[in-house]
Amino acid sequence: MLAQLDELYAQSLDSLATAVNTAVLDAWYKDTLGRKGSIYLLTRQVGQLPAEERPAFGQRVNAVKQELETAYEARLAELKAAELQAEMTASAIDVTLPGRKQWRGGLHVATQTLREIYRIWGDMGFQVYRSRDVETDEYNFELLNIPPHHPARDMWDTFHTTTPGVILRTHTSPGQVHAMHDYYPEPIRVILPGMCYRYEQITARSELQFHQVEGLAVGKNISMADLKGTLTDFARRMFGADRQVRFRANYFPFTEPSAEMDVECIICGGDGCNVCKYTGWVEILGCGMVHPTVLRNGGYDPAVYSGFAFGMGPERIAMLKYRIDDIRYFWGNDLRFLEQF
Ligand code: PHE
Repeated sequence: MLAQLDELYAQSLDSLATAVNTAVLDAWYKDTLGRKGSIYLLTRQVGQLPAEERPAFGQRVNAVKQELETAYEARLAELKAAELQAEMTASAIDVTLPGRKQWRGGLHVATQTLREIYRIWGDMGFQVYRSRDVETDEYNFELLNIPPHHPARDMWDTFHTTTPGVILRTHTSPGQVHAMHDYYPEPIRVILPGMCYRYEQITARSELQFHQVEGLAVGKNISMADLKGTLTDFARRMFGADRQVRFRANYFPFTEPSAEMDVECIICGGDGCNVCKYTGWVEILGCGMVHPTVLRNGGYDPAVYSGFAFGMGPERIAMLKYRIDDIRYFWGNDLRFLEQF
């Protein structure tokens, strides 16, 4: 039986050495040193030995058990280390790979242009005054000297809401009257930026919605010369110090006299191109001296006060500056367009 034990010992050591992973090792332990393992089964036969041989056999069994335990521990440590190493290799990060591109958000080109406009008017002493997008017919038209059925209403195709008399503003001019009601009797220097809405066919040049930046100056002794000087200064700050501008007479019900301001075409420098329709000039705003009726509607006595107003289109300005030939790009949400700014 001692010989049997030695053979079992040798075999067990052999198979321990060939255990390739911890799972196989666990099975080995169960089969060898476990409660019903091969060593145990052998010790159950101790009764077959003559009594005087039993102590020597018992000692040998204990020694074998002890040695197998030690061998097992050593093999276990070895396999665990190997498995950890394999896992680390499999999940390793190659630090020499190039990084992934990080996407950065940016400001919409219309927002950038608006901010530039705010900055220039801010430098010139004008505050930003906000008023609502949903307006009443009264503020959008009537208080601006455009009574119901006035033919000038055709200049602004209007989105109506289901509530009679409540509309989406067709221009930022109603803000003029709100500002006057707020400021009276103080002098006023404000710009009124915001989205406007028109019920129109969408084309390369006109959208259903677009921004305007309205301007209003009210005080004593404000003249047409102030209007021309201030707007010329704006154009030079916006487009460059040697830009030429020109004023053309025009008609708006809420200003008298009224004009439009053109800037020398930035693209061709005045030589003529398809952006300026070969005129050399591009219109960027409407303006005029605030109509006495509108001053009165705002609470200012036109015998004492006067003022000028203007309304410009930031998308127009951006189109001119960046050679954008279709206004539909602005709200089309095409990243290929938006990422260029
Ligand atoms: N509100 C006018 C428009 O939408 C522009 C304008 C504003 C003209 C102020 C004169 C004065 O066309």
